[in-house]
Amino acid sequence: MFQLAPSLLAADFWNLESKIQPILDAGVEVLHIDVMDGHFVPNLTMGPFIVEALKKHCDAILDVHLMVTDPDKHWHAFADAGADWISFHIEAPVHHHRVCQAIQAAGCKAGIAINPGTALEALSSMADFVDFVLLMSVNPGFGGQSFIPASLSRLKTLQAMLQTRTKNPFIEMDGGIGPDTIGPLVAAGMKVAVAGSSVFSATNPPAAAKNLLALAEAHYAG
Ligand code: DX5
Ligand code: ZN
Repeated sequence: MFQLAPSLLAADFWNLESKIQPILDAGVEVLHIDVMDGHFVPNLTMGPFIVEALKKHCDAILDVHLMVTDPDKHWHAFADAGADWISFHIEAPVHHHRVCQAIQAAGCKAGIAINPGTALEALSSMADFVDFVLLMSVNPGFGGQSFIPASLSRLKTLQAMLQTRTKNPFIEMDGGIGPDTIGPLVAAGMKVAVAGSSVFSATNPPAAAKNLLALAEAHYAG
């Protein structure tokens, strides 16, 4: 099944509830939380307290994307706060397998994220262990960037590569996804789409979310 994961990075923090509840009512089941440490990427964003607040007030799947140099140091706090999915980067200099196992042992789904400039072969050693792969279609650090067109062929290559693996992790994509890009990505095997500005910067966010869900349904190949 396809799932849309709006990224809170693009939401108005003045009143998160009034921004989030309407998109949940529109059929969104996953919320994407972008965590940046000002070191792995040049930006600083949210900490576990946001996850804790969301967990208290909504049933959405909380999808935490760790763009941090040391995920080993930080994932626990997000798991304790109520994260359901936690992804960290293959480019982070850690023992990926150990972090993945620890996240799963804490009861969360573990994902490995990969930047647009990193060869997909780098995922080979983790593909049998992770629950999902987060394929970046922009360079991480900021919302509102344009989709990198080569990401579609990377998705196709990744999809073919993962189908031969025992665990067959699902593919989530992140960056620049909107009504113009979502269709071919769903048709090529993307199961979860992160969408920040195309949902929260739209004039009518719940209508934008519904539109993306309908486009995905029309292209979904199963
Ligand atoms: C980029 C983040 C993305 C971003 C998506 O570093 O990982 O999740 O917020 O935002 P849009 O959809 O605006 O590219
Ligand atoms: Zn993200």
